[in-house]
Amino acid sequence: MIILKSPREINIMRDANKIVAETHQYLKELIKPGISTAELDKKGEKFIKKNGAEPSFKGYRGYPGSVCISINEEVVHGIASEKRILKEGDIVSLDIGTFYEGFNGDAARTHPVGKVSKQAQKLIDVTKKALEQGIKKALYKNRLSDISHTIQKYVEKKGFSVVKEYVGHGIGRDMHEDPQIPNFGSPGHGPLLKEGMTLAIEPMVNIGKYKVEILNDKWTVVTEDGSLSAHFEDTIAITKNGPEVLSKL
Ligand code: MF3
Ligand code: CO
Repeated sequence: MIILKSPREINIMRDANKIVAETHQYLKELIKPGISTAELDKKGEKFIKKNGAEPSFKGYRGYPGSVCISINEEVVHGIASEKRILKEGDIVSLDIGTFYEGFNGDAARTHPVGKVSKQAQKLIDVTKKALEQGIKKALYKNRLSDISHTIQKYVEKKGFSVVKEYVGHGIGRDMHEDPQIPNFGSPGHGPLLKEGMTLAIEPMVNIGKYKVEILNDKWTVVTEDGSLSAHFEDTIAITKNGPEVLSKL
């Protein structure tokens, strides 16, 4: 069941997601060769708490971190560690969730570390643009799969693949609500988009094949072929006047 939010509830979600966006802005400045992922995780948690929210990922189904940090062929759900040091040429995905006054915020960004290869930069740019293209279709009276289809079409046109085993989701009082939002599919299917829906749209894009596997830590998702992967996510609200991106400053 898809839970529609009132304007008052969307106001709170705007605040929860503003903290997510500010945490992203803050951590982005710290991304440099030599920093450990543990330091990013720690500083992110502190920043979220200083702003009056809780890091929603911490303890979620036993996840140990506050920020999901995934490097290179890691797709999502990487676990921060003192031993993981960012180096020039890496790409790093940060996924941040907050819980604030009863509601969730959720957004992800992928950043280059220093100077990266042309292919790596193209992957980042294509994934970011795929999310933007998908959001443009999040219009009142469109159907959910119009978003999915647009993302897949754009990514494949650029020669990359979309991950199929992980999907976006509705979001609200729970981090994961209905509906699931695949990053692939044919247009014109699924529920009609309605005012008051709040959605976390999150393309995960691989340079190589779409298949992924999970490491022995039970969390880190990696590409099966070892190719680089990028991840962008925004939380949006559907309004009569079009999509509002809540996780943007
Ligand atoms: N943003 C992700 C999601 O939407 C990450 C949550 S996984 C967690 O599913 F375990 F770290 F919380
Ligand atoms: Co999410």
